[in-house]
Amino acid sequence: MRAEEVAQDLRSPVLEPGPRFAGATTTDTRALSAATDDERATTARPDPGTTGLPRRGYRAGILGVGFMGGVHARAVRTGGGVVTLVAASDVDTARDAADLLGARAVADSAEELIASPDVDVVHVCTPNHLHVELARAALQAGKHVVCEKPLAVDVHGAAELAGLAAAAREADGRVAVVPFAYRFHPMVREARERVRRGAVGTISLVHGSYLQDWLLRDSDDNWRVDPALGGASRAFGDIGSHFCDLLEFTTGHRIVRLVAQSATVYPQRVGADGVTHRVETEDAVTLQYQTDRGALGTAVISQVSAGRKNRLFLEISGTESTLTFDQEQPETLWEGRRDASRLLVRDPETLSAAAARYSRLPAGHPQGYQECFDALVADTAAAIGGAVPDGLPTFDDGLRAARLAAAVGESVRSGGWVEVSR
Ligand SMILES: NC(=O)c1ccc[n+]([C@@H]2O[C@H](COP(=O)([O-])OP(=O)(O)OC[C@H]3O[C@@H](n4cnc5c(N)ncnc54)[C@H](O)[C@@H]3O)[C@@H](O)[C@H]2O)c1
Repeated sequence: MRAEEVAQDLRSPVLEPGPRFAGATTTDTRALSAATDDERATTARPDPGTTGLPRRGYRAGILGVGFMGGVHARAVRTGGGVVTLVAASDVDTARDAADLLGARAVADSAEELIASPDVDVVHVCTPNHLHVELARAALQAGKHVVCEKPLAVDVHGAAELAGLAAAAREADGRVAVVPFAYRFHPMVREARERVRRGAVGTISLVHGSYLQDWLLRDSDDNWRVDPALGGASRAFGDIGSHFCDLLEFTTGHRIVRLVAQSATVYPQRVGADGVTHRVETEDAVTLQYQTDRGALGTAVISQVSAGRKNRLFLEISGTESTLTFDQEQPETLWEGRRDASRLLVRDPETLSAAAARYSRLPAGHPQGYQECFDALVADTAAAIGGAVPDGLPTFDDGLRAARLAAAVGESVRSGGWVEVSR
């Protein structure tokens, strides 16, 4: 896409969903299809690759107004939607955040938000232990759902939600998404496309890491440290799930066997209230694995790696070339070849159509993390409109992550190799 076309695309009018969806009821998810045939065609027609993401906003209710609540709210509004309601752990927290999130109103409770006829899509951005009950309630109320990862803190909960989502999809085409948002970096799509085209050859090794340092000190604390709120697996459940999703999404391989070990650097941490408590969740995990297509790999997952903020790093080596993606440098992809290596730079004019589709800005105008969520919400809206966007992560992918986390936990406990159920 040429720069002027990108600028034109960004200027093009955004459909205002409020009036068009007026009259939607809690169970009337088909209100979204009250658009004219022409409008529906706009949504349902996947872009050919150079015209950008489809724009169709929806009315969102956001549960949780912390880091992710803000990211989701911006994405909803960028996509031409409105945040009709927000709710948090208490009304004052929600009220304090409402302006920042651009919310039209505050709900007294999650139940009130889910029941509201002014909400088409419920976004669950709360601590992990609440995901199952909130996403279940939203699906039972007839809503589309975007539920943060981990979808559930165990396989049982994730399987239940995946089953409910499948039934909702079957019944009335409802959409249930888990934000494995790193899939939406254009250079991730470029890597996936090159793997698909055979440019990497037969993949022999796929390895990497996801490193952060925000829990480096024993005075660092968060609800994620408490297994009752974050789940039994912390480092792997929180960010290892992203690594494995990125690996499987980009390569098309599935991890079938793994062996893992974990470390808890501090047996105790001091909470914000000054109280010392025992730590039962891991700070770091290392794992080795095999894929269903014969590749081998290793990964290091850590929340205590000084200086590393959000370094999700994936390297794919095949018989022809190596591709390396670093989430902190998402505008580039390294391509290694025996004769010559090069740094591929995001440029919608030269990328594959699959990657150019997610390029919202011209080359040299960096885009990053927030744009991934913008694209995820745009594709969610397109899916609600009847399209089938390539690579939209669903509750099935959330269940997959829960199975991998369970296998990691089992291996840590047994010390041996574990088969990962599909
Ligand atoms: N996809 C990603 O890249 C990504 C990144 C960060 C976090 N996450 C996930 O997003 C979720 C939220 O993480 P965060 O970092 O925003 O946490 P946070 O602590 O910043 O915010 C949590 C919010 O949940 C609210 N909350 C608590 N109980 C609630 C209830 N009963 N009803 C409604 N709201 C309630 C709190 O008031 C707070 O606003 C987690 O599941 C996390 O794993 C995903």
